[in-house]
Amino acid sequence: MANKEIGEFELRLKKHHDELRWLYMELYNNGSMFFELMETLRQFYEARSDSLKAVDREKEKDPNWYRRNDLLGMMLYIDNFGGTINGVKEKLPYLQKSNVNYIHLMPFLDTVPERSDGGYAVKDFRKVQPALGTMEDLEGLTAACHEKGIQVCMDFVMNHTSEDHEWAQRARNGEGEYMSRYFFFNNRDIPDRYEQTVPQVFPTTAPGNFTWLPECGHYVMTTFYPYQWDLNYRNPRVFNEMMANFLYLANRGIDIIRIDAVPYIWKELGTSCRNLKQVHTIVRMMRMIGEIVCPSVLLLGEVVMEPSKVVPYFGTVEKPECHMLYNVTTMATTWHTVATRDTTLLREQLDKVFALPTQYVFLNYLRCHDDIGWGLDYDSLRRFGMEERPHKAYLNDFFRGLRGLSNSRGELYNEDLVTGDARLCGTTASLCGLQAALESGKPEAIDRAIDAVVMLHAYMFMQSGIPVLYSGDEIGRCNDNSYHADRNKAADSRYLHRGKMDWAAAARAEKPGTSEYRIFTALARLETLRGEEAAFSCDAIAATLDTGDKAILGIARYLNGEQLVGLFNFSDEPKTAAAIHSGGVYRNLVTGDTLNISEITVPAQGFFWLKRM
Ligand code: GLC
Repeated sequence: MANKEIGEFELRLKKHHDELRWLYMELYNNGSMFFELMETLRQFYEARSDSLKAVDREKEKDPNWYRRNDLLGMMLYIDNFGGTINGVKEKLPYLQKSNVNYIHLMPFLDTVPERSDGGYAVKDFRKVQPALGTMEDLEGLTAACHEKGIQVCMDFVMNHTSEDHEWAQRARNGEGEYMSRYFFFNNRDIPDRYEQTVPQVFPTTAPGNFTWLPECGHYVMTTFYPYQWDLNYRNPRVFNEMMANFLYLANRGIDIIRIDAVPYIWKELGTSCRNLKQVHTIVRMMRMIGEIVCPSVLLLGEVVMEPSKVVPYFGTVEKPECHMLYNVTTMATTWHTVATRDTTLLREQLDKVFALPTQYVFLNYLRCHDDIGWGLDYDSLRRFGMEERPHKAYLNDFFRGLRGLSNSRGELYNEDLVTGDARLCGTTASLCGLQAALESGKPEAIDRAIDAVVMLHAYMFMQSGIPVLYSGDEIGRCNDNSYHADRNKAADSRYLHRGKMDWAAAARAEKPGTSEYRIFTALARLETLRGEEAAFSCDAIAATLDTGDKAILGIARYLNGEQLVGLFNFSDEPKTAAAIHSGGVYRNLVTGDTLNISEITVPAQGFFWLKRM
């Protein structure tokens, strides 16, 4: 057995060794540190459990396992959802009932609550926040998930550590070796030069990219919050140690590693410090390291950038980087479409994504834990006479219920008083008007909002890739305003959509007539259908359709002679799709009825999922 295992490791290493060494030496030119890294890989391979190694072998034989139509994700906060890691374990039956077989556990590693950024300021990469449980609990949860066929995703926050991390504390105490793991400067010269070219991530809540540390007389680079110190990946010690942390977490049974804020991990004076070529070298090395030690583990890159910057993170077919990336521009464009009732830009955006090789797997979503950043294709919008600044202002007004036919209850996020820029927060249901409708008690408004929530999910499920629900959206959870009263959260409006799971509301998903029941059952039906129809898989060819009405989005998916058509009406009136060239007889997947689609009326905020007979 031992021999067989060594053979397996050697074989995988052999496949990647030369390229890995080449890239490492190009970046670090340090043979002994490379040797040390190889030893680390071997140790983590040896420490990996037999059951995880068995999963590795299974998935190596079936490398397309995550590209099928049967994966449905949900992202959730452990404390909000189950209180603790063990509490989440007890709630697995609820996740199964929700058809979820992939959970993204929001950051749960040790952090200081007052300086946490929702857990994205990690104090110890090998310790769970005590209030949530222990590493053993995590292993128990991943094992229980695997038994039920559920994949587990976690964040790997590799751009920075918390200022409370041991390295940061030692650096603050003046230990040179630890200072070299961050960016320290004893005067403002270089920080000022960086500031000339580096944009700001949190212009209101954390202006600037450097923080002054009076106790040690240095500035430290802090791209995000002042307590999140950027790691210096020019130092091979940082890379080696962080790779060890990655493998340590993979060995706890994590299936999908979300590489947080990955575009930012390499800094270079005179640049924007985003998406530099060394970032791709590092991600490529990480991909190979994963394939050597834990080949079943997938890398999900968090690249919240315009499409031209996102796609390179897939790497090439010969030299892949991330397995999956967020479909972020599509998400933002979806909400633009909700506000404008005009699908023109969304069609253009979807066509761009559909034109990419089908190997590329996108993670599709309507809402996540972050704000909506309005990263739209403004060059296109300008052609229709829409300028960036007034259009963003319109969207932000619309989703706060201030303009247009809006019933939304969003809040602004990081309003930049200098540039006039602002982003937006709120849950799907509240942005779709459900909160206001429930408060008003008007049945028609409630119907309309529920229709919009369901239609948006039906459309999201029809994109190519893996759909990921934001916990609570399956029952139409509304905003949580309680964060305003919490000193640690009040300045960060993202907490508006980071509320506690309402289990009483979840119980109402069993009660016909409630909004929870209506949303939950409608989504469950769609999820089941999606799992049954192979043309929803990533292998299908997808295209948008000309529906003859700007309010109606049309999507077609083709696989092995089968054809699915989706029609989605983003407006508040029934609309007729008249120009679908294919025509022909189709079956309505949801109702089972047969219909001819050469001319078809789609209800207000309604949709059709059709299959050609
Ligand atoms: C990512 C996270 C975000 C966090 C940031 C800094 O963008 O999604 O929530 O604030 O990284 O770690």
